[in-house]
Amino acid sequence: MREFIVRARKAPVDAGRFLASVGSGAHVEYLAQMIVNALFTSKGHREDTTLTLVLEDSADYSRALTMQGSTLGDLSGMDEGSMLATCARALQAGSSLEKEASLVCENGIVVQAISFEHMVKEKALTRPVYLLDRKGLDIRGDGEFLDPVFLLTDHIPMPRKTFRSLARQGVQKLSLGPTMLHASQCMTVIHNELDRLASDFS
Ligand SMILES: C[S@@+](CC[C@H](N)C(=O)[O-])C[C@H]1O[C@@H](n2cnc3c(N)ncnc32)[C@H](O)[C@@H]1O
Repeated sequence: MREFIVRARKAPVDAGRFLASVGSGAHVEYLAQMIVNALFTSKGHREDTTLTLVLEDSADYSRALTMQGSTLGDLSGMDEGSMLATCARALQAGSSLEKEASLVCENGIVVQAISFEHMVKEKALTRPVYLLDRKGLDIRGDGEFLDPVFLLTDHIPMPRKTFRSLARQGVQKLSLGPTMLHASQCMTVIHNELDRLASDFS
């Protein structure tokens, strides 16, 4: 299983504000690009992949929207507007969740009231977790990627102090190369690198 967790620090949890932030500030349109690049191929869904978007601009708790390639239902269209509208409906459905409670929407999206830190801490107990960073270890090193979890941000950088606490949990920095990419582009590159390893493509 491949998993991406994206920390979106300025993305609003309030459904109305979420949709209003397209094209400015939180730039939630980037999240729609991540959904496409993480979960879809030309001919279908990536059944082995999970994407979680953690939206942190909240009056109470962050909301994590989790979409799994194998169970993802109808997103009402592949265009940006439809995907963001689907996310907004999920946020609306999860607007009164208590801390750490979750619900599953009809289309398979899971909404959870959980912090980025808490979610990562749980993953790091059982799986290798990598923080995407241009200055990290080269993804083309000789590491194996067994059940990996990849942490990214949107356009807002990770707070500096975050890495110290992630490092204590065994999280390693991983680089895809010298160019600063969009998070959605990172997902495509990661999939390609792992696809090549899995198929022994040379
Ligand atoms: C648009 S970038 C974030 C840019 C942000 N302004 C910053 O300075 O960190 C989005 C995500 O992609 C990751 N990223 C971009 N290019 C990368 C690369 N070449 N290798 C590894 N991660 C990369 C970043 O670490 C970040 O998690």
